[in-house]
Amino acid sequence: MAGTHTFTSIAHLLLLFSFCPLRPPYSQAAIEPASATDTQTFRCSEMERKALLSFKQSLLDPSGRLSSWVGEDCCKWIGVGCDSRTGHVVMLDLKNPLPMAKFDDEYEWREALNKSSLGGKISPSLLDLKNLSYLDLSLNDFTGNKIPEFLGSLESLRYLNLSFSFFGGVIPPHLGNLSRLQYLDLESFYYFGGLDVKNLKWLVGFRSLKHLNLGRANLTKVPDWLEAVNTLSSLLELHLSGVNSSENSTLVLDVKHDWVPPFKLDTLYLDKMPIGPSFPAWLQTQNGLLLSLEDVVIFEPIPENIEKLWPNLEYLNLASNSIIGEIPRSVGL
Ligand SMILES: *[C@@H]1O[C@H](CO)[C@@H](O)[C@H](O)[C@H]1NC(C)=O
Ligand SMILES: *[C@@H]1O[C@H](CO)[C@@H](O)[C@H](O)[C@H]1NC(C)=O
Ligand SMILES: *[C@@H]1O[C@H](CO)[C@@H](O)[C@H](O)[C@H]1NC(C)=O
Ligand SMILES: *[C@@H]1O[C@H](CO)[C@@H](O)[C@H](O)[C@H]1NC(C)=O
Ligand SMILES: *[C@@H]1O[C@H](CO)[C@@H](O)[C@H](O)[C@H]1NC(C)=O
Ligand SMILES: *[C@@H]1O[C@H](CO)[C@@H](O)[C@H](O)[C@H]1NC(C)=O
Ligand SMILES: *[C@@H]1O[C@H](CO)[C@@H](O)[C@H](O)[C@H]1NC(C)=O
Repeated sequence: MAGTHTFTSIAHLLLLFSFCPLRPPYSQAAIEPASATDTQTFRCSEMERKALLSFKQSLLDPSGRLSSWVGEDCCKWIGVGCDSRTGHVVMLDLKNPLPMAKFDDEYEWREALNKSSLGGKISPSLLDLKNLSYLDLSLNDFTGNKIPEFLGSLESLRYLNLSFSFFGGVIPPHLGNLSRLQYLDLESFYYFGGLDVKNLKWLVGFRSLKHLNLGRANLTKVPDWLEAVNTLSSLLELHLSGVNSSENSTLVLDVKHDWVPPFKLDTLYLDKMPIGPSFPAWLQTQNGLLLSLEDVVIFEPIPENIEKLWPNLEYLNLASNSIIGEIPRSVGL
């Protein structure tokens, strides 16, 4: 008989079964370039200072977060990091300083963040920052504007975080030109329909990508996303939470039973995705995996091979799930 069971108690049991220490759900990006502590010896170049000022000018900054951006030495400006040897600007950390809170509703989120958000236009003057390797614009409010194509020409970038910043439209394939990129976080809100994806062929440009987050992007038109991800041999962490918008996304997780991925993931987020009818076999090739399946709908019948995953998992998050169907005996509960 089919019914809906809440998974909470099972989740607790599963946590008891995992004896390995828990890892934090977000890994620190251990990539931040040395910031300019040694600013006595270096002043930023006039060209980079001007580039930052035009960048500031085209932004909206109602709370005055960029008010320290005055004076000669841009290496001292808040959010700007320079290489301590060359004095070149290498880092722009402009994420919203408000701590990430959890709201049930994206409208509340937006309102709370909006108080200290940056918004407006992102100026192509950023292209004058030739050595920029770290750009974080997360949690700001770009009111559904598109991610600018020219970001794909910031050749030195190793870290790009545009998450939760209310960008809209199609993710520009130009980002695939960022061949040095190691971290790409584009997790969006559904607010402006989320970020749209026409294809993921551009992923092939990423030679060193370790971390990819396309959370809530609309992958409806990309039934072959698994093939695109298959080109990322350096990948360690994959976030595809909430990309469920394809009628066949439950199948897509599953189709390639003999697929052996080129990577060994340590973290996989599939929150808010429909799961079933069985867990993909390739997951069993990923040892020491942190697997997050929060708020998923697990369709009847519950995947029989669920217990085959146990030995491989370091941490399994199954909070607030619904099971539509019966729990199989093999689960042992
Ligand atoms: C705050 O939100 C409003 C819409 O609710 C928007 O017009 C405005 O640009 C946002 N502010 C910033 C700084 O993004
Ligand atoms: C900084 O950028 C310049 C111009 O693109 C390049 O020649 C130089 O090698 C870069 N320096 C570093 C440390 O990446
Ligand atoms: C990107 O920014 C968000 C919000 O600031 C943060 O939670 C997330 O960990 C960042 N992603 C990466 C890969 O560092
Ligand atoms: C960057 O990527 C886009 C789209 O993939 C492409 O059309 C363009 O020619 C590339 N630009 C450079 C400078 O490689
Ligand atoms: C995703 O894209 C498809 C095809 O363009 C569209 O029909 C659907 O409404 C989109 N989903 C969301 C949540 O915007
Ligand atoms: C979904 O999968 C079924 C069975 O493989 C197929 O017939 C159908 O065309 C697929 N639908 C879409 C939108 O891809
Ligand atoms: C996934 O998408 C389908 C079709 O839009 C929807 O019926 C289902 O509830 C969605 N599942 C989740 C977990 O959002």
